[in-house]
Amino acid sequence: MTTERVYLFKRFERFWHWSQAALVIALLITGFRIHGVISGFDVETGIRVHMYAAWALMALWAFAIFWHFTTGEWRQYIPTLDRAVAVARFYAWGIFLGEAHPYHPTPEHKQNALQRLAYLWVKILINPMIWISGLALLFMALNWTTLESARPFGVSLQTLAWAHTIAAYMMATFFVLHIYLATTGATPLAHIKAMITGWELNEQ
Ligand code: HEM
Repeated sequence: MTTERVYLFKRFERFWHWSQAALVIALLITGFRIHGVISGFDVETGIRVHMYAAWALMALWAFAIFWHFTTGEWRQYIPTLDRAVAVARFYAWGIFLGEAHPYHPTPEHKQNALQRLAYLWVKILINPMIWISGLALLFMALNWTTLESARPFGVSLQTLAWAHTIAAYMMATFFVLHIYLATTGATPLAHIKAMITGWELNEQ
C-alpha cells in the first residue's frame, strides 16, 4: 500500500467549515434549550445566543456562496454515479472487513458520490428550510400584535415552527452521521486533521 499526500481543503474552506460547525453546534444546543429538550442555562440566554449565531451563520454563508461560485468549487457538489455502488458497499460492510476505500479524492474531485449527495442535501434543502422558516418566525415575533393572525408566504405560525424544527432535526441527524464518517479515515483523526491542515493522506 502506498500513501500520497494531497492538498484538498483551501484556507477559506477550512475557516468556513469550522466556523460553520461551531455556529451549527451553538444553534442546536440553544434550539434544544428553547424547546425545553435540555436545561442547564436560562431560556432568555438561549434565545439571545440563537439569534446572534443565526445571523453570524447567514453572514458566513453569504461569503461561502460567493466563494463557491467565484472559485468554481460549487462543481464539487454536482451529483455523480461514479463508483457510487462501490462506495455504498464499502460503508455497508467493506469498512468492517478492513478493505481499502474505493474512492481516492483529488483537489478537483474531493468528494465521493455519497458525500456529494449528503452535502448537496444540506446546502439545497436543510439550510434554506432553516433560514426561510427562521427568518419568517423572527419577523413575525417582532410584530407581536399580529403574531397569531400573520401568515407569511400564506403559511401559518404552526407550520413554520414545524418546518424549522424538522429541518433542525435533519441537521442534527446529518451531524451525527457526519461525525461518524469523519472518523472513518486511515486513522480516526485522519480526515479531521485534513480539515484542519488542508492535507489528506490517500492510501492506495
Ligand atoms: C453541523 C455542523 C457541520 C456541517 C454543516 C458540516 C459540513 C461539512 C461540509 C459541507 C463538508 C464538505 C466540505 C468540502 O468538501 O469543502 C464537510 C467536510 C468535513 N467535515 Fe464537516 N460539518 C460540520 C461539522 C463537523 C464536525 C464537528 C467535524 C469534526 C468532528 C467535521 C468534520 C469534517 C471532515 C473531517 C470533513 C472532510 C472529510 C469529509 O468530507 O468527510 N465536520 N463538512
